[in-house]
Amino acid sequence: MATTFPDAADVEHVLDLAARAPSAGNAQPWRWLVDTRGVHLFADWSRSLGDSDADRRDVVLSCGAVLHHCAVAFGAAGWSSRIHRLPEPDVLASLELAARPAGAASRELAAAIARRRADRRPYRGALPAGTIEQLVIRAARFDVQLSVVPASRWARLGDAEFALRYAGAAPQHDGDQAAMLVLATAADTEGMRLRAGEALSDLTLAAAALGLATCPLTQPLRDQRNRLALTCEVFDGDAYPQALLRLGQQPVTDALPPLQRRSVAETTTFALG
Ligand SMILES: Cc1cc2nc3c(=O)[nH]c(=O)nc-3n(C[C@H](O)[C@H](O)[C@H](O)COP(=O)(O)O)c2cc1C
Repeated sequence: MATTFPDAADVEHVLDLAARAPSAGNAQPWRWLVDTRGVHLFADWSRSLGDSDADRRDVVLSCGAVLHHCAVAFGAAGWSSRIHRLPEPDVLASLELAARPAGAASRELAAAIARRRADRRPYRGALPAGTIEQLVIRAARFDVQLSVVPASRWARLGDAEFALRYAGAAPQHDGDQAAMLVLATAADTEGMRLRAGEALSDLTLAAAALGLATCPLTQPLRDQRNRLALTCEVFDGDAYPQALLRLGQQPVTDALPPLQRRSVAETTTFALG
């Protein structure tokens, strides 16, 4: 493991930034242990929003998102992370750190952390050419497939709710020009859910860096019929949808203010000796 290690203040700064990661219901269902071997991520099941398989999925996806945010924040602070996923029972991931000067790309992604918000407002205007293709390539780096949900298959319900519409009801977008994307994996294991969460984080930060708005969604996937129909139509029945992602041009109105996060003291145990 690492022969050098960031000091506690640097780790605290990184974990504070990582806590800005999106999480289902803003539950932030994670815990950290920092010891001389690295930084270890655990799911905090007590913060799960329920007991169903969909709730477990939300926890692991959210942990994947904070894991990626953490690696990005360490990267910008001059530490590269080697990520060991599910290294032992109950540990979702361990980051092994090595000093490495930050590159421009990692600084750009880290700078997007503070700007990214889950934006449920209508998006107006077309996406720049090639945006979705670029995100498909990024998702593939996490073994995650990314595809577009046909506009006829989703609807905006009121101000902040979205639904899949495989049951036949007429889709309504109310002027929302968002693209609806779906992230899927080849298997539905905890490891693949973690990877999907990392990809979700990467796509939201890459979009924010391009000045685009996003909103992750899993609520519409809770209905099994929608889930199966989406799998058949978009992935030929051969993938597991993990999350949806709305993507589009940022509304020109005010930026959304940040939501409250748990402090590093609440989520983290330091055991640096
Ligand atoms: C796995 C996951 C599932 C989510 N599902 C939904 C959803 O179904 N509907 C929704 O409006 N927001 C959803 N969100 C967005 C969260 O509500 C949002 O990230 C959280 O409230 C924190 O706000 P912020 O992302 O703006 O910082 C989801 C986020 C994640 C990571």
